[in-house]
Amino acid sequence: MEIDVLPVGPPSNDRDSGSTTVVGALADHWATLLPEEQASFSGVSAHRRLELSTTRYLARRAMAARGLPPAPVLRAADRSPQWPAGVRGSLTHSRELVAASVSTGLLGLGIDLEHLGRLSEGGTARILTSTEAAWLAALPTADRHTRATLVFSAKEAVYKAIYPTAGVYVGYREVEVVVDPTCWSFTARYVGDNSLNRPIGRGRGVWWHLGDAILTRFEIEGES
Ligand SMILES: CC(C)(COP(=O)(O)OP(=O)(O)OC[C@H]1O[C@@H](n2cnc3c(N)ncnc32)[C@H](O)[C@@H]1OP(=O)(O)O)[C@@H](O)C(=O)NCCC(=O)NCCS
Repeated sequence: MEIDVLPVGPPSNDRDSGSTTVVGALADHWATLLPEEQASFSGVSAHRRLELSTTRYLARRAMAARGLPPAPVLRAADRSPQWPAGVRGSLTHSRELVAASVSTGLLGLGIDLEHLGRLSEGGTARILTSTEAAWLAALPTADRHTRATLVFSAKEAVYKAIYPTAGVYVGYREVEVVVDPTCWSFTARYVGDNSLNRPIGRGRGVWWHLGDAILTRFEIEGES
């Protein structure tokens, strides 16, 4: 299965967001890796071969869709992906699905996939601010797990978007996610005290349901 460039969901998100997001199934794309990638990733486990090769395969698809030439996407010592100069991008993999997103005009771009049913109640309690916890508690019981998973995924997408610029760890409770279910979008408030993370506050997020998985994407524009 390969899902091509994700269809844009509801009309309110129907804008050129500045990034291209591609989703596909976890598969063996090792033969498509560029020589630098094969050399850098040699010796990894069989499962990591699938993750590393599918993310790079889809990254190249997203790059091509934005008119960019193929280029290797290596990993830095801190595990973040190394994109060509002028490119921002993000990668994510779950047990079945993989996604890649690429942009040329954004300050930051992050994506994250999470399957429903994996976030425990304890895990939820650890990642939510008190405001988010109160919002969740006010929702119908049947919606709570899905919304908690959405907030978790959104926070990871936010982290991936800001980290390459700020270069510092962001705790889950340093970011407060505000969900707008009417247009499948969210924003994020930075409530920590490291000024390097302030650009989070001007980012915009969207999400999609892909079967039992949630895919979030968070984009931070540069200051105009
Ligand atoms: C880095 C992190 C977000 C990755 O998320 P994950 O659910 O474990 O894994 P995913 O499959 O979604 O993403 C893996 C990809 O993340 C990317 N990644 C790893 N570290 C990264 C970083 N510091 N910045 C940006 N991207 C990073 C890599 O491209 C990796 O793919 P690869 O191994 O194929 O190269 C997570 O491990 C983490 O450390 N979270 C704690 C910090 C956090 O999220 N705080 C939230 C505060 S708002």
